[in-house]
Amino acid sequence: MYTTICRRPQMLLYIVIGISIGLFISMLSNSFQGFPRTKFAVHSNDLNLDLHNSETEHIDEHHEPHDDSHAHHDDYTIADAMKKKIRVLCWVMTSPQSLSTKAIHVKHTWGKRCNKILYMSSVSDPKFPTIGLNISEGRQHLTGKTMQAFRYVYQNHFNDADWFMKADDDTYVIVENLRYFLSTKNPNDPIYFGHHFKTIVKGGYHSGGAGYVLSKEALRRFALLGNSQLCRQDGGAEDAEIGSCLMKLNVTAGKTVDNLGRSRFHCFNLNTHLHGGFPDWFYKYDSNGARSGIHNISDYPITFHYVSPKEMHALEYYVYHLRPFGIVSGAQDLNV
Ligand SMILES: *[C@@H]1O[C@H](CO)[C@@H](O)[C@H](O)[C@H]1NC(C)=O
Ligand SMILES: *[C@@H]1O[C@H](CO)[C@@H](O)[C@H](O)[C@H]1NC(C)=O
Ligand SMILES: *[C@@H]1O[C@H](CO)[C@@H](O)[C@H](O)[C@H]1NC(C)=O
Repeated sequence: MYTTICRRPQMLLYIVIGISIGLFISMLSNSFQGFPRTKFAVHSNDLNLDLHNSETEHIDEHHEPHDDSHAHHDDYTIADAMKKKIRVLCWVMTSPQSLSTKAIHVKHTWGKRCNKILYMSSVSDPKFPTIGLNISEGRQHLTGKTMQAFRYVYQNHFNDADWFMKADDDTYVIVENLRYFLSTKNPNDPIYFGHHFKTIVKGGYHSGGAGYVLSKEALRRFALLGNSQLCRQDGGAEDAEIGSCLMKLNVTAGKTVDNLGRSRFHCFNLNTHLHGGFPDWFYKYDSNGARSGIHNISDYPITFHYVSPKEMHALEYYVYHLRPFGIVSGAQDLNV
């Protein structure tokens, strides 16, 4: 057969053309190997697996912390520089009961992006690790826990950061957007930031679940001057009590909406803020008119609350993995 084909010049030509096309295609596919598509397919499969495999809310160790920068083609230069310049210590309110069901997912997702991360519990656990505060667990002790946590941070880590963020173990924080927001603020001002409520405290206060961040000066006043004459040390509603205490120390509850009036700190999860359906109280409390919908949420949101572990990993995928091919996003100036 070979001899027959080779003897005919026309056939030889076809073979040469065939080989050339083959080579060309193989070269093309080699140069396309680095495209995100391949890698995203792997990640999205991982995610689907975990979303559909687990019957309970308890999803665990399959979600190893991943390295953002190595998996992608994103340029981290600005974010890395901001991390050095705007140092944020985060502390997470947790408990022995929710360590392996909630806090572990903070640890495996956004927690690692803070300059320093601390987990506050009532029992010290050197393995996780958690800090054991001298307080009983339970909703009625959230004020005391928060008081003690900020004092602990002041005594042990005051020089490690410029800003000090409190979040729950079901809060999701986009730390880069927090740093961007803080980049035009001064840590020496007595101020704190979060999702602003206009009730109860004169000048308003920030929601607990949406998380809030104290300036260095605010933390100093809170830890040194927030004594029992001025501030309730336990009981009551944590966020209102802390807000009331800070107000007495002349710490301002700063505004956090972006320059288009859109929210950055969120008391509920993304679905609720996208589609509405807030509880009745929210309309009375919210300073920004309890707005919902994609056009009322900042392009640089900072927190969402009531985020289940599954949603936490889904957000991680949307924010740090999913990219629409061919769209390179530029930096926007959204600070007021
Ligand atoms: C823990 O709290 C209790 C009750 O508030 C107090 O009596 C005790 O001295 C505290 N222990 C430490 C080690 O601070
Ligand atoms: C807060 O401001 C008031 C009024 O200016 C002042 O009397 C008070 O001493 C200040 N308190 C603190 C802790 O700075
Ligand atoms: C923003 O929220 C307000 C109040 O819910 C609503 O009336 C308005 O339609 C929202 N804007 C957009 C663009 O969705």
